[in-house]
Amino acid sequence: MTTIAVLGAGKIGEALLSGLLKAGRSPDDLMFTERYPERCAELTKRYGVRSVDVPAAVKAADVLVVAVKPQDIEPLLDELAPRVEPDTLVVSLCAGLPTKLFERRLPEGTPVVRVMPNTPMVIGEAMSAVSGGRHAEPHHLALVEELLGSVGRVVRVPESQQDAVTALSGSGPAYFFYLVEAMIDAGILLGIPRAVAADLIIQSAVGAATMLRDGGVHPVTLREAVTSPAGTTIMAIRELERHGVRAALIEAIEAARDRSAELGRAHEVD
Ligand SMILES: NC(=O)c1ccc[n+]([C@@H]2O[C@H](COP(=O)([O-])OP(=O)(O)OC[C@H]3O[C@@H](n4cnc5c(N)ncnc54)[C@H](OP(=O)(O)O)[C@@H]3O)[C@@H](O)[C@H]2O)c1
Repeated sequence: MTTIAVLGAGKIGEALLSGLLKAGRSPDDLMFTERYPERCAELTKRYGVRSVDVPAAVKAADVLVVAVKPQDIEPLLDELAPRVEPDTLVVSLCAGLPTKLFERRLPEGTPVVRVMPNTPMVIGEAMSAVSGGRHAEPHHLALVEELLGSVGRVVRVPESQQDAVTALSGSGPAYFFYLVEAMIDAGILLGIPRAVAADLIIQSAVGAATMLRDGGVHPVTLREAVTSPAGTTIMAIRELERHGVRAALIEAIEAARDRSAELGRAHEVD
């Protein structure tokens, strides 16, 4: 069995641990590192997984999953660099950090796989995109796909597309939350109590998302099906177009892509 250490069990790290356990992995094959003893105790109580320090994690694990904030990476790499064996697979979930950064700091030949997940991982509905670094072999990518597959869906992309992925699916849930928030406000404006408006909109979002995912029908076709001649939906669509909502979304996602690239440049290595 593969032994996995999650380095930094915050929101994403905890979600991964939880997903791996639900997928049938034994708590004995998992471990994590965290900064504060209270957090370690809380997670061990909740999941039955042991907390270790970084040297113990490196010694025991076949796979090191790095799930600290990007700004915390340097001290962690200082701890990892003298200890990691080049046959240990390093999986980074850190937004914006290139595989080259890990390859430069870790022993020559260390396989690194970069992953961009998103927060629905906490309910097993993540969308993750994986990219292999210079020394990542097909079996490394397959293993990472299997691990991330236990907390949602996984696609493989070239690393050059990771900034775009960050803008689309990494930040993506936030755009939907924003849209739902605005639609609930519209309900309030129309005199619907907040709780009822929230119910109406959230269940509509769940229904629409499920149709999109499970129906195999293009979004344009689905929208056309509820847009009858001179009906209510087309009146709303006209307003959305008049206010440039489509263009705003395209530009918003482009801005997120540019910001991701900018954050990555702070760690640029050649
Ligand atoms: N949340 C998202 O939507 C999302 C989406 C895609 C990717 N990611 C990536 O996932 C990573 C984790 O994000 P998150 O939202 O889960 O952050 P988070 O909740 O802050 O989790 C990071 C955890 O790592 C701990 N930590 C930091 N340095 C450590 C060290 N040297 N040793 C052990 N533990 C350490 C932190 O402890 P302290 O609290 O004490 O600092 C914290 O508990 C980030 O790199 C982020 O870019 C997040």
